[in-house]
Amino acid sequence: MKEPVRQKTRELRELAHLGGGEERIQRQHDRGKLTARERVSVLLDDGTFQEIDAFIKHRCRDFGMEKRVVPGDGVITGWGEIDGRRVFVFSQDFTVEGGSLSATNAAKIVKIMEMALKAGCPVVGLNDSGGARIQEGVASLGGYADIFLRNTLASGVIPQISAIMGPCAGGAVYSPAITDFIAMVEGTSYMYVTGPDVVKTVTHETVSHDELGGARTHSAKSGVAHFMSANDRECLENLRRLLSYLPSNNLEDPPIAQCDDPIDRADPELSTIVPENSEKPYDIKQIVNRVIDRDSFLEVHEHYAGNIVIGFARLGGRPVGIVANQPCVLAGCLDINASVKAARFIRFLDCFNFPIITFVDVPGFLPGTEQEWNGIITNGAKLLYAYCEATVPKLTVITRKAYGGAYDVMSSKHIRGDLNYAWPSAEIAVMGAKGAVEIIFRKEIQGADDPAAVETARVEEFKELFANPFTAAERGYVDDIIEEPETRRRLIDGLRLLAGKRDSNPPKKHGNIPL
Ligand code: HXC
Repeated sequence: MKEPVRQKTRELRELAHLGGGEERIQRQHDRGKLTARERVSVLLDDGTFQEIDAFIKHRCRDFGMEKRVVPGDGVITGWGEIDGRRVFVFSQDFTVEGGSLSATNAAKIVKIMEMALKAGCPVVGLNDSGGARIQEGVASLGGYADIFLRNTLASGVIPQISAIMGPCAGGAVYSPAITDFIAMVEGTSYMYVTGPDVVKTVTHETVSHDELGGARTHSAKSGVAHFMSANDRECLENLRRLLSYLPSNNLEDPPIAQCDDPIDRADPELSTIVPENSEKPYDIKQIVNRVIDRDSFLEVHEHYAGNIVIGFARLGGRPVGIVANQPCVLAGCLDINASVKAARFIRFLDCFNFPIITFVDVPGFLPGTEQEWNGIITNGAKLLYAYCEATVPKLTVITRKAYGGAYDVMSSKHIRGDLNYAWPSAEIAVMGAKGAVEIIFRKEIQGADDPAAVETARVEEFKELFANPFTAAERGYVDDIIEEPETRRRLIDGLRLLAGKRDSNPPKKHGNIPL
């Protein structure tokens, strides 16, 4: 009796492996896409994938579906390892009914999400699907809702990462949207709530799939996607790199890597990057890259809201999150997009025990009707709230401007910054010298015989008083004024000091972040 069972098991497994068949696999390859199984094998360490539910079949008996049954039902689920660490994965198989989500298919995804939550391991979803399995109607919609609920319950407990490697349309987009990071592949992936045809009918706009919801659109315009890759392989390799920074769950610290970069490496070049003239821009990434462990920066949202730079890095081997104003884009002003981008990242960092390293050079919030009417107040408050509630170690380096409300927001001492350093080039004030003088000395300037001369003198006086770190340092609002080359050593030392930091917020169900 055993032998026939063994034989049937082998046959079913082969069918599951074949998915939608050779022809559809070829079509997938012709489009430059890997199959669902190939993707899993690129993502995971060799030979570590353990599949479950390969024998699952859908139960739909309408529209001739009883004759269209493939074991596994269009999604591959299981677990494996990345750099020796356990990760759960689901991979939608476009060759089986377009990767569409049936009730049983959803149940498979829910099962591994629940296993991941119990085991305290990340979940990676590889999405390539025509959406709800149309033949199953509301049973499929229910399946999506079951996934959304698990995504939400797992949020902040285990890292959840979505790669969009084909279509992802309609309400299906909301599962990736709840996860922590979305990676997209250029040319072959798209996400939208309603596609080009519906858009044409409703708003009379003509737009292609790619323009409406391709990788570039979501990486640069909407900010929905955090990472963009040229092809499937590159995307999966980037996910492996991303996971190397992340702890498996919220009770663990991010994994410390071996560090070959000397922790006391002093970089004299750091003293030459901030220009003498404080109106001149410079690239904050030059500073970040010189301070952190060599080649350790993994930028997040690289193509979106360039006026703030965020990403993972290592300092002395210890993973950290970087948040840095970027003076060479919009002079580093905080606007709506930058605030939301950084706020969500900071909340991720706080969930998963990453120290936050903030580099500050911010002239303030971006003025204008567009910003005000679109809610810079509420959106800027998201960033403020995220910094205020974060209880992980917070280390701040003011490289130049720290003006106005933005000074408070950017991890200042007042909102529980643990170690706040200023470079000698720091200027900490309510606003820039010229703007300040025009307000507080307006009458004097207007009444003067030589208004320009009086204004220049007052501006110089203001700069003398505030365009430096001393006033803040005198009050203890910065803990020390440090020489630029010693930044790396001071930050690594600070991280060691704060490694056992304990801080908490008052007990509550949850706060009410200004959404
Ligand atoms: C069942 C589907 C399907 C679906 C595709 N297929 N989408 N089967 N349900 N949703 C099947 C096709 O019949 C076809 O079967 C195979 O998958 C490949 O599809 P093609 O159309 O040949 O591929 P392509 O030309 O690449 O087009 C891909 C596509 C298109 C753009 C995704 O298939 C499409 O528009 N599908 C419908 C998308 C959609 O409207 N989904 C519902 C969205 S609403 P054969 O046998 O020929 O290989 C939704 C709600 C979620 O998802 C709500 C959550 C709250």
